[in-house]
Amino acid sequence: MGKQRGRQERTPVVWMVVHGLIASAFGIAAGLAIDWFPEQASTQAESVDHLYDLLIWVSVPVFVTVMIIVLFSVQHFRMRPGEEQLDGPPIHGSTRLEIIWTALPAIILVALCSYAWVVLNDIEAAQPDEMRVNVTGQQFAWTFEYPQPGGKPVKSNQLYLAKSQPVRFFVKALDVIHDFWVPAFRMKVDAVPGLETKYRITPSRLGTYPVVCAELCGLGHSVMRSSAHVVTPAAFKAWLADRNAPAAGGAGGGTPDGKALFTDGNGTATACGSCHTLADAGTASSTGPDLDEALAGKDAAFIRDSIVKPDDEIASGFQDGIMPKNYGDTLSQDELDALVTYLGKVAGK
Ligand code: CUA
Repeated sequence: MGKQRGRQERTPVVWMVVHGLIASAFGIAAGLAIDWFPEQASTQAESVDHLYDLLIWVSVPVFVTVMIIVLFSVQHFRMRPGEEQLDGPPIHGSTRLEIIWTALPAIILVALCSYAWVVLNDIEAAQPDEMRVNVTGQQFAWTFEYPQPGGKPVKSNQLYLAKSQPVRFFVKALDVIHDFWVPAFRMKVDAVPGLETKYRITPSRLGTYPVVCAELCGLGHSVMRSSAHVVTPAAFKAWLADRNAPAAGGAGGGTPDGKALFTDGNGTATACGSCHTLADAGTASSTGPDLDEALAGKDAAFIRDSIVKPDDEIASGFQDGIMPKNYGDTLSQDELDALVTYLGKVAGK
């Protein structure tokens, strides 16, 4: 009798272990094959993604173990016809089992936390020759400020970084809580009024990546976006020099092109056309007022005020506070003039 019982009990355990191993292997393979994250554009991204891979290795078998025991128990210990009135078997504790199921998760958690701490320590470590960038969040735009030794800081609402040049961001908010996040860099931090938060990254890949706000901050939260351009050190130097000498005009030198500023931001500013309809520019978004209606017949002073002080007069049917209030800061005088001239010429025509 004793021998037979032993065999009966061992069979499901062997069955569970074999199926658990197969399911875990499939789960881990699928987990590692799926592209969970955007491109890795910083050295930090590589460490963070390794940590996630390790979590997949560990968490899939845990999930499979729990599910197999649950499913086995449902099948094996279910109530059969005629057992409705019966009590379940009296169960007493198993000290050995309790020690195992307390110690094992504790060991796994301590090991994972230790590895996560090592990763965090590594990605937050100070780097030689860090460049400082001040990041300011406000409803609903980002301003990036590059302090210049002995001169006025360069301001932009597009983020430009040089590849392999370590950066430290100093993040502030002017109004409510925002969150400065470049998913391709994997790091993010809240921008909190009255506080200065910081983090470091080292860009490792050329390209343009989205900058997003990751904290619900009001009606314009979803449009509080910008771009992070990782360029070569030489291109970064040229960009900085160009921004430093606004008299020389936009990227191409000479007078900035109002239409280019409007449609694609000309590499310097958030494009107006991503929120506004304007027939001449061929844009058709309705986040903000249709400028063919709102600016028709208006003079240059009105148009200029609409850009730098957007909340002074709100077109009917639109909320105040949606359009960023930082264009007076982030557009150069020439760029502003070019936009005003362009809009005065084409709006409503
Ligand atoms: Cu700023 Cu959401």
